[in-house]
Amino acid sequence: MRIDVYFGPQEVVAADVTNRVVAVIDVLRASTSIATALANGARAVIPFASSEDVVSRAKTLANSEVKLAGERRMQAIPGFDMGNSPLDFTQKAVEGKTILMSTTNGTAAILAVQGARDVVIASYVNSSAVLSLLGAALRGGTDVVIVCAGHEKHFALEDAACAGSLVRQLTEKQKADINDAALAAMLIDKKYGTSLKRLFSASAHGVALAEAGFADDLVACAKVDSVPVLPVFQDRQITKLGPERAR
Ligand code: MLT
Repeated sequence: MRIDVYFGPQEVVAADVTNRVVAVIDVLRASTSIATALANGARAVIPFASSEDVVSRAKTLANSEVKLAGERRMQAIPGFDMGNSPLDFTQKAVEGKTILMSTTNGTAAILAVQGARDVVIASYVNSSAVLSLLGAALRGGTDVVIVCAGHEKHFALEDAACAGSLVRQLTEKQKADINDAALAAMLIDKKYGTSLKRLFSASAHGVALAEAGFADDLVACAKVDSVPVLPVFQDRQITKLGPERAR
């Protein structure tokens, strides 16, 4: 079996994900926010490439059913209900709602892997749940791909570290061939270990978020397994894998 890591969706071609189970990681902050929204009762999160696409879809749905979410340069998109802070996606704000979301890197990465067999949205807050799903895929004979969202088409340290942590834990339990990026990701995970505060302080996006006043988001994004849900992307929407969607 194989586990391949890609440091950005731009590296991925359709053949890399076909018939494979894919985890998409955007630790800061889209993956964390999506998991939080679903854990707090959002009906679904629908990812879009642009804010214009969000607005057009919103026009087709009842106002009371949807919330518009997303960021550009870390700040909420003007006119939207919420930005991309996991702290925005409270139960009060999202319960029963469909979240139409566009972020700079995270939603683009999710849309880039639509041809995969299964897509799960991963971050530190749901890493054990994701590990169980990826481990089951490998045991069942399906290769695993981990796609880091990165930052504006560039490498992002925190996504690579999270990917490395998943690869390390998967390969501790079962034998798998890995690509060079997976090996590099494991070395990054080894450097920072469980010190996610140190990881985020070293990452450009972590520093930028702190400087922009989002230090509390970094704390939320570092809470390992605090949001133990499995957000799965299927039929163009992300929902929580549960008894009603178990396959
Ligand atoms: C993104 O999807 O580009 C990120 O989550 C950016 C952010 O921190 O909001």
